[in-house]
Amino acid sequence: MRELPSHFVRVAETSEDIQRCMNIRKEVFIYEQGYDIRIETNEDDAESTHFLLLLGDNQAIGTVRVINSNGQLGRFAILKPYRGLGLGRPMIQAVHDYVQSEGGKEVWCQSQAGDPTNGGVDATGFYRRLGYVNRGGRYMKEGTEHQDMVISLIP
Ligand SMILES: CC(C)(COP(=O)(O)OP(=O)(O)OC[C@H]1O[C@@H](n2cnc3c(N)ncnc32)[C@H](O)[C@@H]1OP(=O)(O)O)[C@@H](O)C(=O)NCCC(=O)NCCS
Repeated sequence: MRELPSHFVRVAETSEDIQRCMNIRKEVFIYEQGYDIRIETNEDDAESTHFLLLLGDNQAIGTVRVINSNGQLGRFAILKPYRGLGLGRPMIQAVHDYVQSEGGKEVWCQSQAGDPTNGGVDATGFYRRLGYVNRGGRYMKEGTEHQDMVISLIP
């Protein structure tokens, strides 16, 4: 089995924690993927629970949010040097545990489904690997192809 670096995932509790989440999102979605700064943060942030992925030395390297009213996971980002290490899995698990503890029955997301051979980002394989299935077809959002994906939390 792959050995993960020492890490932990927890809910962002303070305004300083939230700022650390936003810094990671800015790095990944604005600087790396080129999203418009005016849409990267939105009104859903105030209605969401945000999570931080931290290394053992407390360095923040990942974030994800879930909108409390509808179980939508989003703004999932791990800083580039720390991808592919298996750290996305415990982050998803933390979100699922949280939603389940709040009585939620499913988690869904709007996965980017662009064409990587054409400069796009396709995260559908990641979500599929973690048990998500497609819901509906592909559609355009914010200039990129997307695919809704969902996982049931009912055992
Ligand atoms: C999406 C993201 C958070 C995933 O993190 P990661 O570190 O790459 O993922 P992990 O290493 O935890 O991968 C978990 C599993 O998914 C698999 N996986 C990851 N990306 C995959 C892909 N594109 N296709 C298929 N499988 C994939 C891994 O092989 C691993 O499987 P395993 O545990 O059975 O070996 C990360 O790639 C990222 O920050 N991307 C930029 C931001 C982004 O595009 N977010 C998605 C917005 S919709």
